[in-house]
Amino acid sequence: MTLPDLSGTVTLITGAAGGLGHGLARRFAEAGAAVAVHYRTSVTQAHALVAELQDRGTNALALPADLLSPDQVRHLIESTVDHFGRLDTLVNNAAVQPVQPLPEMTFDQWREVLDTNLDAVFLTTSTAVRRMDPGGSVVNIASIEGSQPAFGHAHYSTAKAALLMHTRTAALEYGPLGIRVNAVSPGLLHREGLETQWPEGVERWQRAAPLGRLGQPEDVGNACVFLASPLASWITGQNLVVDGGMSTHPNW
Ligand SMILES: NC(=O)c1ccc[n+]([C@@H]2O[C@H](COP(=O)([O-])OP(=O)(O)OC[C@H]3O[C@@H](n4cnc5c(N)ncnc54)[C@H](OP(=O)(O)O)[C@@H]3O)[C@@H](O)[C@H]2O)c1
Repeated sequence: MTLPDLSGTVTLITGAAGGLGHGLARRFAEAGAAVAVHYRTSVTQAHALVAELQDRGTNALALPADLLSPDQVRHLIESTVDHFGRLDTLVNNAAVQPVQPLPEMTFDQWREVLDTNLDAVFLTTSTAVRRMDPGGSVVNIASIEGSQPAFGHAHYSTAKAALLMHTRTAALEYGPLGIRVNAVSPGLLHREGLETQWPEGVERWQRAAPLGRLGQPEDVGNACVFLASPLASWITGQNLVVDGGMSTHPNW
């Protein structure tokens, strides 16, 4: 498969040490981009990923930050630009996904998800855009749950729905600066051990999804690379659903 050519560009991926983050970093590297691998607590995984990318000839660096801290976000963006000399693409991938039924949800539990999955995206985007040249872009990782409620995920679905509107408002206001902002909404993604942890969910998904399988991180990576590339130079404010067709499934 031939990916769009991103050589000479720099991509910062938040939460890159996580399940999807690994796949995103690999795809951007395969497209030729230099990759800033952001992490918070997963130090070992982030450094292992950077070593893997460097072995394949990619300019990569691991950078820590708690995205709830404006100072640490500022430092993350400045360190990226200091090391690589520029910043072309920000992929807002970091998030938390706790499950908690709404009737028992505390305000702290609600706030943790809204802070991380929505407010932190405002922070990283508004800080990063100041250091981007025209032609830069932002890709927000949302979820099909931003358009369809799920039990135990009232806080998560609400944050992702708001993220989709933030994507459109940011596209509206950053467009005149030459910066594009889009979202990718994945469906259920494969990760190590999911089939044994949640066999009933995986089986239900496979039965219902028109394409009959869970997503791989690379499926989402392909969409992100496309949206960051010149192939998408007239696309902004959009939400690209990458879910094996699950959203087409009648639910009544
Ligand atoms: N997995 C799915 O099926 C699925 C489906 C639809 C959408 N998504 C979306 O895809 C994205 C990635 O999901 P994933 O499954 O790969 O999750 P994951 O493995 O839990 O990775 C998320 C990463 O976010 C980072 N993070 C969380 N809070 C942070 C904070 N305050 N500051 C900095 N970093 C923070 C964590 O970094 P550290 O580990 O370094 O602490 C973590 O590695 C999320 O936006 C999620 O909503 C996932």
